[in-house]
Amino acid sequence: MLNSFFQNQRQKDLLTVFATSSIGTIPANILDKIRTPGINYVSGYDLKRFGDSWVSQVVAATQGEQHLLTKTSVELKTVMNEHHIIIAVDTRRKHVIVGCIALWHLGVDEYKKDWFELGTLWVKPDYRFHGSRHMPIADALYRRILADNQDKNILATTTNLSAVHLGARHGMQMIPYRALPQETHKATCVCPIEKTKTNNNMHCCLKDTKCFIRVPFPTWQRMGKPKRTTDFQTETTS
Ligand SMILES: CC(C)(COP(=O)(O)OP(=O)(O)OC[C@H]1O[C@@H](n2cnc3c(N)ncnc32)[C@H](O)[C@@H]1OP(=O)(O)O)[C@@H](O)C(=O)NCCC(=O)NCCS
Repeated sequence: MLNSFFQNQRQKDLLTVFATSSIGTIPANILDKIRTPGINYVSGYDLKRFGDSWVSQVVAATQGEQHLLTKTSVELKTVMNEHHIIIAVDTRRKHVIVGCIALWHLGVDEYKKDWFELGTLWVKPDYRFHGSRHMPIADALYRRILADNQDKNILATTTNLSAVHLGARHGMQMIPYRALPQETHKATCVCPIEKTKTNNNMHCCLKDTKCFIRVPFPTWQRMGKPKRTTDFQTETTS
């Protein structure tokens, strides 16, 4: 029974490696032209050439969502210069900004490795999957940023279950907080006391019960393949 689980898991893992690779994501990126008609995904030098009009729209978006940390225009321009943000633009409606996703530098861990946090994931309400247009824009953003940054150590934390499901569709591996390098763990746990109910966030009781940590497959491999939350569940049910 365990043998067949590991074989299945291995097949799933191989599929994830392919589906999230630069080559494996090409068909899905092409299909986005049909699934998200009129939407362009702009990043890097193209975003610099796009002008600054997107910045105020994304600042306003981050101010209006309870699950998002507010970002300033200076912060957003910094990630633009680092090529660490992708925005979704509706070319059919005066290039209005309809989504974004970014990688924020978290710092260096005790092994001198850089870590980044995936965040500022936002889609304009009527462009969401359950909005009036039914477009998978969040999927398109997620897939692109992960494929472009496979060499980076990335994590994503959230209390939003839709974001957990979205990450799972893109090969994010759910691991316990304690699997993170200590310095990275400290750097990501900066929620206010009103939320964590403790002045030592290392003891926040939301961790792994309401607040989940996920890492992309290449990061998980570089971490030495720590046990995934799903592995613990399978062990207790088998
Ligand atoms: C998070 C966010 C980007 C997701 O946008 P979205 O994928 O377009 O989807 P919606 O919010 O309309 O709804 C999500 C639901 O749509 C469905 N869905 C979305 N894309 C799908 C797809 N490609 N295939 C199947 N179902 C899909 C899922 O059922 C999901 O519900 P779930 O909780 O059962 O997984 C968007 O809700 C948002 O901007 N929220 C505010 C900011 C925020 O909370 N950001 C996340 C911070 S961690």
